[in-house]
Amino acid sequence: MDSATISSITDEMLVQMKNLPGALLPVLHRIQDELGYLPAESVSEIAAALNLSRAEVHGVISFYDHFRTEPTGKHIVKICRAEACQASGSRELEIQIKDSLSIEFGETGTDGLITLEPVYCLGNCACGPSVQINDKVYGRVDIARFDGLLESLVEQPDDSHAHVTPVISNEPEPIRIYVADDTSACAIGADAVAQAIVAEAARRDLNIELLRYGSRGLFWLETLVEVETPEGRVAYGPIQSSDVARLFEAGFHKGNQSSELSLGLTQDIPYLKNQRRLNFECAGLVDPLSLESYKALGGYLGLKRALSMSTQAIVDEMKTSGLRGRGGAAFPTGIKWQTVLDAPTNKNPHPELEKKYIVCNADEGDSGTFADRLLMEADPLQLIEGMTIAGLATGAVQGYIYLRSEYPKALEKLTIAIEAAYAGGYLGNNIAGSDQRFDLEIRLGAGAYICGEETALLDSLEGKRGMVRAKPPLPAIEGLFGQPTVINNVLTLASVSGILANGAKTYKNLGTGRSLGTLPMQLSGNIKRGGLVELPFGSTLRELIEDYGGGTASGRPIKAVQVGGPLGAYLTESQLDIKLDYESFSEIGAMLGHGGVVVFDDGVDMSQQARFAMEFCAVESCGKCTPCRIGSTRGVEVIDKICTGEGSERENNLILLHDLCDTMEHGSLCAMGGLTPSPVRSALQHFPEDFGIEPQAISGVGIDAGRGETPC
Ligand SMILES: Cc1cc2nc3c(=O)[nH]c(=O)nc-3n(C[C@H](O)[C@H](O)[C@H](O)COP(=O)(O)O)c2cc1C
Ligand code: SF4
Ligand code: FES
Repeated sequence: MDSATISSITDEMLVQMKNLPGALLPVLHRIQDELGYLPAESVSEIAAALNLSRAEVHGVISFYDHFRTEPTGKHIVKICRAEACQASGSRELEIQIKDSLSIEFGETGTDGLITLEPVYCLGNCACGPSVQINDKVYGRVDIARFDGLLESLVEQPDDSHAHVTPVISNEPEPIRIYVADDTSACAIGADAVAQAIVAEAARRDLNIELLRYGSRGLFWLETLVEVETPEGRVAYGPIQSSDVARLFEAGFHKGNQSSELSLGLTQDIPYLKNQRRLNFECAGLVDPLSLESYKALGGYLGLKRALSMSTQAIVDEMKTSGLRGRGGAAFPTGIKWQTVLDAPTNKNPHPELEKKYIVCNADEGDSGTFADRLLMEADPLQLIEGMTIAGLATGAVQGYIYLRSEYPKALEKLTIAIEAAYAGGYLGNNIAGSDQRFDLEIRLGAGAYICGEETALLDSLEGKRGMVRAKPPLPAIEGLFGQPTVINNVLTLASVSGILANGAKTYKNLGTGRSLGTLPMQLSGNIKRGGLVELPFGSTLRELIEDYGGGTASGRPIKAVQVGGPLGAYLTESQLDIKLDYESFSEIGAMLGHGGVVVFDDGVDMSQQARFAMEFCAVESCGKCTPCRIGSTRGVEVIDKICTGEGSERENNLILLHDLCDTMEHGSLCAMGGLTPSPVRSALQHFPEDFGIEPQAISGVGIDAGRGETPC
């Protein structure tokens, strides 16, 4: 592309966007979307238009993995390297793909067709190993499937976005058939199944209405096909496109259940029936893009009640509910909101920024977690309503959803749902006919795990590198643009509408101790029945993994389970009877975090998992403090030396690793450096033989499972 074209496109974007608050990231996204990368000419123009130095713009570009300064191949292939995919074979797949393409990460091969990149979780953890090609995620990928995908790229390079639109017949009483339009469902073939159903129905001259709502979260049964009958929806699964003709033959479209793929009424599938769903009650039932559908299922009743209450009464209701943040730190939501309600706005050189903010943390970077993604794709208005109520409660009039760029489908659904809420009078001025206003915008992250940490996220929203801020001041006092800011996780905010609609007491009657309500757990890795399981706090990890998950997918014994994302400790089979609540996990030096559960069978080498924990920290550290930035790199080296060393050299390196973990725990500003030792220490403590060492060598150097703090 010549300089004049680059300049004119950059200029056009800047004219449209330069006045946005924190404009730099949105501008970079738009220019890269348009040009495929960020050329040096654009950097100078952006810097001039946004009144920044070129070094500042370059600093931001180089911080985020998503931004590129060189053109790429025609297609970008990303391989997930995170733990849940590792547990289902991604390490081997990565080697095979690199071999087959003869390229390493960051390189372009097969004559400019493919650029290969690493990615750390695509939210498809229940259906790994995962690979993304351009914007589309593929699940359960092995090298044969990858080669097939590659061939289709060569033959039909532009077909990666093939998608079925709903077929809506005008004739009365069409047969309603549901196939989820969800990242994971589509990753394992839902689009092809939908296409096959439409084609087969046409061939048989049947009048069907194919509806693409969200997934129920029973990913082990995807592609799940549901047919509406007078008794309720009847389910069939897992279906492949090659099964479709046979299903029609067996009369599935009439609810006939003679097929061996019939599962009976969806609501009676034990995996679903035995859950207690609040956040996910309407997943798969509601049309995620329709305000009318949302309202028909009880949507906006919470907002209606909130509008009749004082700000303090809404905050009190949140306190009474006992809701604690679902992002990981489990901080009481009502107390956070109270701080923002009570805080005055702060002086800012740009008076238009002097207002309170509601920020939704939709950065969901933990491997093994996908609940936020599922909710945003299946029931986005629940989140939008929760944020609106948070605005009413605290006096905030502007909201931002900070969404990770790895979730294009969630972006698509949220964008349409926000438009529907504006069109229906539920966002903007005079919400729901009141004199209150609340505006809401989506901002995209750019591939940095640390931007899930709330203060790094705020820096990113302001258009900067995602650097962690020292606290105090708390974001509730001085947050976005220096103003009082509520920052909550997707599930926290999505819980709000139900609490307001049904009353705080109904919510707090579920759960145990100080862990109240329900927690959507996410089962992934080497597990037979991966998916979303929402339960009141208090059941056990064993019930979750055995009763719901059905044990390992490989059928081999469970060796280790990582709960709470990449900073979570590894637990052993003997620890599975632990109760799923914040206190029980804290007592054993572990954490529930965002509810991700990654299962490994006895084929896993735990020294490699410990090594990966350090490697991940080195890749994703924001770089502010030395123990995290440098310590993690040294940690990888020391673990390698322990695994390959002999005698006293090995012992000395064990002592060194122990010291390093201590320094990281005590000398890091945030939980990224502070908790990385947790998976490392727990792997060493429980599985010393994988490091080639005797158990007594561990106790000799004081390695324990970590200090069990939760990210703050
Ligand atoms: C390294 C790191 C990564 C984090 N990633 C996320 C994340 O992806 N999503 C999230 O909601 N919270 C994440 N958190 C927690 C946030 O800092 C913060 O506690 C949370 O957004 C507050 O919302 P809540 O009170 O609703 O949980 C992370 C924390 C750390 C230290
Ligand atoms: S611990 Fe790591 S990620 Fe956290 S502030 Fe320090 S360098 Fe940044
Ligand atoms: S998609 Fe690979 S770990 Fe989540």
